[in-house]
Amino acid sequence: MCGIVATVGHKNAPEFILEGLESLEYRGYDSAGLAILNSDSEIEVVKVVGHVANLKDKTNNQNLTGRIGLGHTRWATHGQVLTKNAHPHQDQNGDFFIVHNGIIENFQSLKDFLMNKGHRFSSDTDSEVIAHLLAYNYKKLKSVKSALIASLQSLRGAYALAVISKREPNKLWGAKLSGPLILGLAKDNSYYLASDSLALASVAQKIIPLEDFELVEITPKGQTIINLKTDQIVSRPTELMKLTKEDSQLGDFEDYMIKEIHHIPQAIGDAIRGRLNIDQNFITLGGLNSVVDQLQYIDRIIIVACGTSYFAGMVGEYLIEDIANMPVEVHLASEFRYRKQPLSRSSMVIFISQSGETADSIGALEVIAGSGMLKLGIVNVVGSTISRLTDAGIYCRAGLEKSVASTKAFMSQVTILTLIALYLSDNYKDYRLLSQQLVNLPSQLSQFLNQHQIKKIANKYYQASNFMFLGRNYNYPVALEGALKLKEISYIHAEALASGELKHGSLALIDKKMPSLVIALSGKTLDKNVSSIAEIKARKGKVIAIVDDAKSPIIDQVDDVIVIPKVIEPLQPLVSAIACHLFAYYMAKALDRPIDRPRNLAKSVTVE
Ligand code: G6P
Repeated sequence: MCGIVATVGHKNAPEFILEGLESLEYRGYDSAGLAILNSDSEIEVVKVVGHVANLKDKTNNQNLTGRIGLGHTRWATHGQVLTKNAHPHQDQNGDFFIVHNGIIENFQSLKDFLMNKGHRFSSDTDSEVIAHLLAYNYKKLKSVKSALIASLQSLRGAYALAVISKREPNKLWGAKLSGPLILGLAKDNSYYLASDSLALASVAQKIIPLEDFELVEITPKGQTIINLKTDQIVSRPTELMKLTKEDSQLGDFEDYMIKEIHHIPQAIGDAIRGRLNIDQNFITLGGLNSVVDQLQYIDRIIIVACGTSYFAGMVGEYLIEDIANMPVEVHLASEFRYRKQPLSRSSMVIFISQSGETADSIGALEVIAGSGMLKLGIVNVVGSTISRLTDAGIYCRAGLEKSVASTKAFMSQVTILTLIALYLSDNYKDYRLLSQQLVNLPSQLSQFLNQHQIKKIANKYYQASNFMFLGRNYNYPVALEGALKLKEISYIHAEALASGELKHGSLALIDKKMPSLVIALSGKTLDKNVSSIAEIKARKGKVIAIVDDAKSPIIDQVDDVIVIPKVIEPLQPLVSAIACHLFAYYMAKALDRPIDRPRNLAKSVTVE
């Protein structure tokens, strides 16, 4: 939530900041701002409401130049979307400038205290208090670093922040307590801070992800990281920057979402590479090697996640119970963290997160930190907080996902959960069939992506105000995911049900204005789904059916049909979900929505 960039030494700091902020817009995009130290040692601030493109226009008109500066793209928490609430924030004398990602929970008491001391605030944000605290502490300590350390001690909540000051103009400071902050180093002795290494792909060759309770002081001559708990200088090896500028570009695609959907076959292929053996039930999950002994004693699994990752977790529940015969429960992280759970050491908790930075999931992890229970991560972003806080885990290998709506990461998560189910199983009867089909899936899905029936159907239904999604068993979580995707990018209200529940209440909603999308694939529940379709048709409801048999008798009963490749039941979510993702995409496209940046949302929700 919120994106931060900052530099000391880039030859054109405004240019870097604007480019960096553009690549971080997935973290928030309701307003943006920057502050640049100019050649007269003055700090100039530009802020706008709206996207970074607006900031670019305004900055370019002002001809800003300088080598030191910071910038921010905002997802509002405290205070409306107004220019005065955009970052950077400053103290009343204009000496200290800060950009902040996170929430300062005790900001009101700090603000009251500072107002009593004569400070006048100009925004409604929690973040502004940090700039004023710096000014307050600087008066006594006469060093920005010391003032920052003292200020951080007063803050309760979460922060990743960057600071520049007229008092010590050639320096930049960064600090973090939850929320990512990456230090970037370049061959030309320029230095950077960013919320995601993505923003540094075109400037830095090496990176150091900062850890909680670390502060970095950067000057044109170098950087020093200090651990605030031990007061010691930290010396940590640098990591090579793996992302390239191309990774974050659209190429021939119109939006990142459709680019990422087209990468699904590759994402599934990458998730199973070197991990799946077709001939014998032998799954290699290197990330679990260190906990193999503990895994033997596990008899219950709890999956914790948010949003789309939660629905992947629900698919995981069906997979692990069906294939490995082990009981699984799935919890929303935001509920799990405040709920009393009878947990035992024979339970293992799996955290699923694309970003690895979701505050609710991290909060849930912290709740069970000292419990002695085994904690695994299924995470996409390498080195992210959840990947570091869990005991072991499996990376998704989905690559960079930029669109707010998660698609390929969901598919990778489900693929990894399939591998975990096989890994935990003893003699699963359909092992060979499933693994052979899983290996073939990327090429089948690539072909499926080339057909256009879904676009035509979406063009017929995009004016609907409400939608019902139905599925059973493995396809119930897919129905939930399909409804979520439609809501988030098209703004059409949608709800999802396990088909069998339709008659227990929601059938009352069905009429000719409320279409349903029913996932009716081969398997145990096909006939039951056919009955649900009949119940809808009897009430004049329109039905789009997702089927896996081009000759299915369902085709004659429904209004529209999407035919997907036929696979064994445990693999069906990997095929039906891609159809739901495409459906949501084309519906939103027909409505001309901002696909990759839906209103009110952000990709990485690093606040509670
Ligand atoms: C946000 C995103 C969703 C995502 C959820 C969980 O709400 O908009 O697309 O599913 O966070 O994110 P995570 O990174 O933990 O998977």
